[in-house]
Amino acid sequence: MQVALREIGNCVIRRCDLSDLISTMEINLKTLPEHYSDYFYESLLAELPEAFLVAEVDKKLVGYIMCKIEYGFSNFKKLGFVKKGHVVSVAVLPEHRRKGIGEGLVLEAIGGVKLKKSDELYLEVRCSNNDAVKLYEKLGFVIKQRLKAYYRDGEDAYLMAIEFAY
Ligand code: ACO
Ligand code: ZN
Repeated sequence: MQVALREIGNCVIRRCDLSDLISTMEINLKTLPEHYSDYFYESLLAELPEAFLVAEVDKKLVGYIMCKIEYGFSNFKKLGFVKKGHVVSVAVLPEHRRKGIGEGLVLEAIGGVKLKKSDELYLEVRCSNNDAVKLYEKLGFVIKQRLKAYYRDGEDAYLMAIEFAY
């Protein structure tokens, strides 16, 4: 039984368990065109459980966020080498959107990568995905780059990032 990190109405945000992975994969299949192998989900959960979170309503999963930690060049400091959190994927089922669940997932994932002392958190998002871009901007992410033909269908991505102060 995982501890509730945050409650939004009748929705609880908590860390993901191994037993949540099938439901998480089902939400991903329903909501996004980018899919991953079972092994990839398991490895993200093993490597960064602090920022692999699920949203649950009435014992049913309605959203997830999963992240990893990378080391590389800063999105903020010229030539700086930093520890970066990377939001691999976040989604909320359509019938549970616009209730603050996506925001709660991203905020708690920020908390999770900060526990690991990350300097920054970044992600890629389709340039056409206004809802997601708005969500990230609301939480302080800024567009740092446009990645040409980042997606398999040829669409560009925005690379968005946020820097942490400790
Ligand atoms: N229209 C305008 N603004 C929106 C919308 C929308 N439809 N949805 C979210 N926002 C913005 C608003 O600023 C909102 O704040 P407000 O309610 O104060 O106006 C803020 O985001 C927070 O909204 P939430 O209710 O917390 O967001 P929600 O739970 O609906 O989840 C999400 C947002 C995750 C983007 C959802 O729409 C979704 O699952 N979309 C499909 C999957 C997806 O696109 N995921 C992101 C891909 S990029 C990646 O994974 C790294
Ligand atoms: Zn990515």
